[in-house]
Amino acid sequence: MVDNKKILLCLILRQHVNPLSRFFQQPFALPLSSDLFEDDSLPIHLDIGSARGRFLIDMAKMNKDWNHLGIEIRELLVIAAEKERKELDLNNIKFLFCNANISLLDWLESLNHDQLQRVSIQFPDPWFKRRHFKRRVLQPDLLTSIAKALSPSRELFIQSDIYEVIQSMIVVIEESNFFKRIIYGESEWLYENPYDVCSERELYVLNQEKKVYRAMFQRNLVQCSS
Ligand SMILES: C[S@@+](CC[C@H](N)C(=O)[O-])C[C@H]1O[C@@H](n2cnc3c(N)ncnc32)[C@H](O)[C@@H]1O
Repeated sequence: MVDNKKILLCLILRQHVNPLSRFFQQPFALPLSSDLFEDDSLPIHLDIGSARGRFLIDMAKMNKDWNHLGIEIRELLVIAAEKERKELDLNNIKFLFCNANISLLDWLESLNHDQLQRVSIQFPDPWFKRRHFKRRVLQPDLLTSIAKALSPSRELFIQSDIYEVIQSMIVVIEESNFFKRIIYGESEWLYENPYDVCSERELYVLNQEKKVYRAMFQRNLVQCSS
């Protein structure tokens, strides 16, 4: 028998939300990193758009000497990811519900020097239409806040299966002047995932034998004005 409740839940979990709606434009005060992690002295890997959190949970299991924070705008996904985190009794990872473009900026500013060392944005929602550009997650203000929090040589990793989406992120990053793109041999694209852990969307795309565009950036020495 078809489980209608499961189908309904799947549909709700898959639904995009509009980050520009009034509700998602309200700021949430995010807890300080000292209230999130057992050992606040560890470097942080921030994953923006963490969805159900499987990528970050696997990273947290493998990298006990890092803290991991997943930011996600769909609350049900955060609840599910947090449930799994608690069941696994992992103290070096946390998932928070918010619109990254609104609520993450103050949190980034609150970090200690060189505490944030890695940022990943993987397969962000493809808002294709030009008039929907403002719904895309990597906006210039968020990028500037990330750049302010990262020390020179710390990394920003992005990937997508949609060329237009990754290209528009690259334009935002390159126009900021705060990052240097890492070139691998002849190619500017990274052939493999650098963390040996695939995100959920990445696995789905790879199973379909579609191309994944991956780019790695390092924070350069250019100072951000305060
Ligand atoms: C296509 S999914 C990819 C999920 C995951 N990164 C992966 O690779 O499997 C993109 C995720 O980003 C989230 N997202 C989009 N805009 C966001 C925003 N402004 N703040 C936080 N999360 C956002 C979406 O809700 C969605 O879960």
